[in-house]
Amino acid sequence: MRGPKVPDYIRRLAIYVPGKPIEEVQRELGVSDIVKLASNENPLGPSPLAVAAIEKALPNLHRYPDGSGYALRKVLAARHGVDLDQVILGSGSVEIIEMLARAYLADRDEAVYSQQSFVSYQLAVDQVNGCAVTTPATDARAHDLPAMAKAVSDRTRLVYLANPCNPTGTYFTRQEFDRFLADVDDRTLVVVDQAYHEYVSRTDYPDALDDVRRGCNVMVLRTFSKVYGLAGLRIGYGMASQEVIATVNRVRSPFNTSSLAQVAAIAALEDEEWVRRSRDHNLRELVFVQGELQRRGVRFTPSVTNFVLIEFEGDVKELFVEFQKRGVIIRPVGGPGLVNCARVSLGTRAENERFLAALDKLVPTNAGV
Ligand SMILES: Cc1ncc(COP(=O)(O)O)c(C=O)c1O
Repeated sequence: MRGPKVPDYIRRLAIYVPGKPIEEVQRELGVSDIVKLASNENPLGPSPLAVAAIEKALPNLHRYPDGSGYALRKVLAARHGVDLDQVILGSGSVEIIEMLARAYLADRDEAVYSQQSFVSYQLAVDQVNGCAVTTPATDARAHDLPAMAKAVSDRTRLVYLANPCNPTGTYFTRQEFDRFLADVDDRTLVVVDQAYHEYVSRTDYPDALDDVRRGCNVMVLRTFSKVYGLAGLRIGYGMASQEVIATVNRVRSPFNTSSLAQVAAIAALEDEEWVRRSRDHNLRELVFVQGELQRRGVRFTPSVTNFVLIEFEGDVKELFVEFQKRGVIIRPVGGPGLVNCARVSLGTRAENERFLAALDKLVPTNAGV
């Protein structure tokens, strides 16, 4: 069977490699008691209020969800001080990243993003045969916003900014962002991906929602996958002008978010106690893990979020396998400037100690010096 011809740009697509699931490592290596620090999940689990809401909604699973997610959008709009038609839901914020590319990139139109940023931007642009224009990160592994502004041309429809950035854990400030917005033509949509926004405690961190509210050509992306602990449900949202949301809605598939995800997200938003606990836990573990890495003389990029980017001396692919044999899943990353780097998510204190114990076995460090 020959099958249909596959377009060249589809043939060239890289397949997304997710963090290794625990079950897969158990199967492959026969190791039990596995610690997964590979996907920046909430180590404390899902919001309990969200779990209760899901249980309550189960008897109605035979019904299709509300396609536009009216009730959840209403709660989000009220909470964030925007109109209902300024909010769109996605099956994870990743789906909105992809919908944006589908909606705005035609005929090799350009999208600008930083080289050491979230891999889904590249996948989204490549999937629609768009033209990716990338800029190197700064020496501190941050977005080089002045260089990004210069890279914007009259063919640029989208700029993807991750703030904080995955996999580097760095952020840009309000002052830097204001300068960037002033430099970028308002025919370009600036997409600010704030998946880790709730973890940031810096006072100069800009919430780009302020810029959406004051009518800038900005879209903010948020997710329930991180601090709310609902990664398995796949639910995220975007906020922008009514015009932008109406455009993106044209490429949204019907019923793109499930009824369980919608009710869980509403409950999770009310679970302020869970968010506070998760955030406090993360801050404590960030201080602990970074302190331990520093004490050992291990090179890492200071993070404001729930993971740390580590630069190893040796081959990270081999180290990844060795960590796995010791029951610890980390996430090797690649690409320009990220050779032998791995991203390690913050877990519970016990999980973080397992990681550090494996590190001491595998990597010569100053531990104990
Ligand atoms: C920067 C960034 N944006 C978006 C996402 C996607 O999150 P989700 O699709 O689960 O909402 C992630 C997930 O790791 C991320 O790191």
